[in-house]
Amino acid sequence: MTKSLLFLTFSPRSDSTSSALARAFVDQWAAANPDAPVVEHDLGQTPIAGPDQPWIEANMTPKDQRSTAHHAALAASDKAIAELHAATHVVLATPMFNFSAPWQLKGYIDNLVRVNETFGFDPKTGPTPLLDPKKKMKVIWSSAFDYTAGTDMNALDQLTPYISTIFGFMGLRDISFVASGNAWAPAEVAQQFRCKAQTELGNAAAAW
Ligand SMILES: Cc1cc2nc3c(=O)[nH]c(=O)nc-3n(C[C@H](O)[C@H](O)[C@H](O)COP(=O)(O)O)c2cc1C
Repeated sequence: MTKSLLFLTFSPRSDSTSSALARAFVDQWAAANPDAPVVEHDLGQTPIAGPDQPWIEANMTPKDQRSTAHHAALAASDKAIAELHAATHVVLATPMFNFSAPWQLKGYIDNLVRVNETFGFDPKTGPTPLLDPKKKMKVIWSSAFDYTAGTDMNALDQLTPYISTIFGFMGLRDISFVASGNAWAPAEVAQQFRCKAQTELGNAAAAW
């Protein structure tokens, strides 16, 4: 299989933990897969605008009837969808904001979920996913607190279930998560959590 990687970061912070961990992972992965093309975007610094009136109107217009203005309104979304389809591997790096996705990630997702692009819809049978189920996704996320299974905070995590649900709806079946939690704990503890994530990513990079 010819591998290709789509690498997206969503933190608006210049000193982002999730972006730095993901960068190291992608560098290791790229070294192990020297022929694989890598497409990357920092959507934390340069977000895709979320759907607005022109976008929605264009998306509701049948493809063969769209005007130049319609195509322009959907251009960023079309590009994001094409890149997602084209990649065999996807790395998403994101912080948790208010127990869920930062708006930059939510806006990106809102640009992806489109009928006949990432899911099909038949009024009689309902929706069907259109993304290749063999596509792999790794989500590297950072948070102030620790949401590990078994902790009191675990039930508050709306980020990882949301990502699993929405990308699952579009067809992905191979989504793995690596958390770097406890960023607001005393420095020594925060560092332990970050090192654990780094080790986990380092161990996974070559074989992914
Ligand atoms: C607006 C905002 C909301 C946040 N909400 C949460 C939250 O609900 N839970 C949490 O654990 N951390 C929260 N945090 C902390 C970040 O998730 C944490 O600092 C993380 O390490 C940032 O990732 P980054 O370094 O990749 O930007 C929030 C931070 C900001 C700026």
